[in-house]
Amino acid sequence: MKLAVIGTGYVGLVAGACFAENGNQVVCVDKDESKVRTLRRGKMPIYEPGLEELVRRNRAEKRLVFTTAMPQAVRQAQIIFIAVGTPQGEDGSADLHHVLEVARQIARSMNGYKVIVDKSTVPVGTAEKVREIIRRETTHPFSVVSNPEFLKQGAAVEDFMKPDRVVIGAEDPRATELMTELYSPFTRTGAPIMVMDCASAELCKYAANALLACRISFMNEMAQVCELFGADVDQVRRAIGSDRRIGPSFLFPGVGYGGSCFPKDVQAILKFAQEKGYDFRILGATEQVNAEQKGRIVKKMEAHFGSLKGKTFALWGLSFKPKTDDMREAPAITIIERLLAAGAKVQAYDPAAMHIAKGIFGNRVTLATKSYDALMGADALVLVTEWNEFREPDFAKMRKLMRGAVIFDGRNLYSREQMRTHSFTYFSIGR
Ligand SMILES: NC(=O)c1ccc[n+]([C@@H]2O[C@H](COP(=O)([O-])OP(=O)(O)OC[C@H]3O[C@@H](n4cnc5c(N)ncnc54)[C@H](O)[C@@H]3O)[C@@H](O)[C@H]2O)c1
Repeated sequence: MKLAVIGTGYVGLVAGACFAENGNQVVCVDKDESKVRTLRRGKMPIYEPGLEELVRRNRAEKRLVFTTAMPQAVRQAQIIFIAVGTPQGEDGSADLHHVLEVARQIARSMNGYKVIVDKSTVPVGTAEKVREIIRRETTHPFSVVSNPEFLKQGAAVEDFMKPDRVVIGAEDPRATELMTELYSPFTRTGAPIMVMDCASAELCKYAANALLACRISFMNEMAQVCELFGADVDQVRRAIGSDRRIGPSFLFPGVGYGGSCFPKDVQAILKFAQEKGYDFRILGATEQVNAEQKGRIVKKMEAHFGSLKGKTFALWGLSFKPKTDDMREAPAITIIERLLAAGAKVQAYDPAAMHIAKGIFGNRVTLATKSYDALMGADALVLVTEWNEFREPDFAKMRKLMRGAVIFDGRNLYSREQMRTHSFTYFSIGR
């Protein structure tokens, strides 16, 4: 099939490359010229495992091209995906101006029947708004479809190629048929393609993210209760995770959730529910617990050291989660800002996000080129993101490099036995 994907970010680029991989002809459009230039040079604007190889192969096969020219991309395509950002607006609601602007531009370039697909995460009613805009701008026939994306950064290619389910919100059979045909190679292993009305499809994505955010905040609160009673949250997590009704995922307490989705999507539901007069209380609490959680590790540091002024801290992990360079709403940002405000010095390291951190902190933070370099002369290590390379470090070497033998483990990566063996003073979450 001939496709256009508008917006070449984490979602658009992965979707475009994966659609091409299954034999489709894909034109990826972005208004950011430097991003398009980077992609045309064969370089990736983001870090995502497996993506570079996929893009390289499909460009070489001429199934995947990158451009800033939307009209040509729209004219050649049967199906056009809108995958632009929907950031949080000032009042917490999803800012739809990129989506609606793209819808207008698509409509103005149409030359026949097109399926226009909302892949961005958008509030209920957006498909209707997109439909309205297009109707005003063109006389050509078209269908608007809602097709939320559930990929996880860090495993985006794998998730896209083998989704747990595909959700299609569509109101006419012609569009449903085309979308089902497009996705059938991705669901050969039996994952369902769920066809439903647009409003339900739009809500699915928010419901999934909100429930996952809720589980994280629940476990962060459970960790606090464990600390109060001298219980071990890891034991509690394992026990409840083996209950088939609960399952083991998203039960890890930590330094709070971040990223470009959970915080803004929780805010967006709160806002659109409120607009209909409903106060979504659990999500209000989820968000409040999360905001507090990001600062709790700094409170533990203050409780241990007293004043943090003049202290040096090594910080491992800057991205909001492992295997991505994305630092949007990353807990590391809150933690570092608080440490700096308290007069501490921060020496940070991350396997992928150093270039982003440089843009955020400039020279206010020392960015180490290797994980062990960050430890040099540090009073303590703060572990923020659980990259694999931090899981089994050389503790004896760490002791030699650090001034103090203290670890604040925001992800419960290390065991208390390990810490005792290497004589570290150790603080974790809920243990
Ligand atoms: N990042 C994720 O893990 C994820 C997962 C599922 C869904 N989503 C949703 O998908 C959407 C996109 O997210 P993302 O993380 O890929 O965003 P992103 O910020 O990484 O990428 C968006 C891209 O759209 C481009 N763009 C904006 N306006 C444009 C226009 N008028 N014409 C052409 N290009 C334009 C931007 O230049 C940017 O490259 C959001 O709604 C997000 O909530 C994200």
